[in-house]
Parts: sequence; structure tokens; C-alpha cells
Amino acid sequence: MIAIRNLSMRLSSGGREVSILDDITFEVPAKQFLAIVGPSGSGKSTLLGLIAGMDAPTSGTIALDGRDITSLPEDELARLRREKVGYVFQSFHLIPTLTARENVAVPLELAGDPEADGKADALLRAVGLEARGQHYPAQLSGGEQQRVAVARAFANRPAILLADEPTGNLDTATGQQVIDLLIRLNRDHGSTLVLVTHDPALAAYADRVVRLLDGRIASDELRASAPGTPP
Ligand SMILES: Nc1ncnc2c1ncn2[C@@H]1O[C@H](COP(=O)(O)OP(=O)(O)OP(=O)(O)O)[C@@H](O)[C@H]1O
Ligand SMILES: [Mg+2]
Repeated sequence: MIAIRNLSMRLSSGGREVSILDDITFEVPAKQFLAIVGPSGSGKSTLLGLIAGMDAPTSGTIALDGRDITSLPEDELARLRREKVGYVFQSFHLIPTLTARENVAVPLELAGDPEADGKADALLRAVGLEARGQHYPAQLSGGEQQRVAVARAFANRPAILLADEPTGNLDTATGQQVIDLLIRLNRDHGSTLVLVTHDPALAAYADRVVRLLDGRIASDELRASAPGTPP
């Protein structure tokens, strides 16, 4: 479970303090598929980055399975992120000098997994790219790169999968493949999925939709079918 309490983020820009997130509180139960939507600049990426522990908030707490990541020492935070969190960037962020298979193997190798290579191959197969393992990112299409990025984010079977506009750079058909993949990881493996999107078609698959407006929660809608909803 992800528990966010009184989360605020202020940054100074041009000598002025700007409020990016303002006193946000909500919880994401395990296995839920949550879509975060809202206009450009409303704070979606900032919120997702804070949940991933990539940045520290100005105030408030973020607990992942009961552990507040905002007060963890650097090395413990790094370990928790490695073990629990997978992150998919809008712009893929693959390492250009590594092949697809090597990119997928990175988190496995960081975790000291002796079967990193075999597991990387299995993950590439799962995203339909078994024939592309030896290709470098520059030799792959955008959709293929994003599927490699999803495979990499999921390599350690993280309990929490975070994705920032994973289909933002893809055409409809290719985006659909990435959506199907993320939904499969959420449903079949029970990973909590928190996804930022501008795409109503993608948000429509979610159990719950939180809308941000100027750094605050403007609405929070749960679908009847969502895990944890009383029948
Ligand atoms: N380092 C920074 N310094 C100052 N302001 C920042 C910084 N990073 C982000 N912002 C501002 O914070 C606000 C929220 O940014 P954020 O990237 O979270 O928005 P977003 O909802 O993801 O938008 P988009 O849909 O365009 O990706 C924006 O107004 C942005 O200009
Ligand atoms: Mg953004």
C-alpha cells in the first residue's frame, strides 16, 4: 500500500516560491490500478517522482508498505526503491550503449540475481521482443523501446509499478500494446499500478481516477470493480 499524507512540494523559481503540490493526502491499496490525470503543469509527474523516491517533498510523508520513504537514509531508500518500485518514463530512458537484453538485465544484476540473463530473455519474450535482445535502443522503434522499458521496470517483480505517460510518445496501436502489458502485470502479478496519463482511453481501464488541478486533488473516483471496494 502507498500512503501519502499532507504532501506538499514548493520550489523556488526566479526568486519566487511556487507551490507545485499542496497538502495532498490519499492512499493506494495494494493491487489497485490508479490513473492520475489533470492538465499540463498540475503536478502529476512531480507527484509520481515523489512516490518513486526520486525527489524529497517540502513536507508530508509517503509510506510504502508502512515505511516512510521521506525519512530513510539514502542507501536504505535506494534499496527499497530497487526492491519495491519499477518506474517507466515517458521518454523510455533506456541506456543507449546497452542492448535491449542488457537494459532489462540491469535491475536484476543490481539485485545480484545469478539468473539475470535468463530472466531478461524471459521478460523480452513476455513483451514480444524475443528477437530483439541484441538490438540497441537506437535500432528499436518507439513502441519497442517502451516495451523494453516496461520489461526493465518489471524485472524485479516490483510490488509497485509507476508509469509517467507510458503511451505519450506512441501511436494508438503501439500504445495499446504497452497498455495491455501494464494491465497484464497489474492483474496477473498483482502489482499496484500508478499511471499518469493524458489519454482518456488509458484512464478508462483504471480502477480509480485521481484528477489533479493546480497541485491539489480536484476529484477522486473509484470504479465499482476496484479491488478493496465493498460488494
Ligand atoms: N524544478 C522545478 N522548478 C520550478 N518549477 C518546477 C520544477 N519542476 C516542475 N516545476 C513546475 O511544477 C509544475 C508541475 O510540474 P509537473 O511536471 O509535475 O506537471 P505535470 O502535471 O506532469 O505536467 P505535464 O502534463 O505537462 O507533464 C509546473 O508548473 C512546472 O513548471
Ligand atoms: Mg508530466
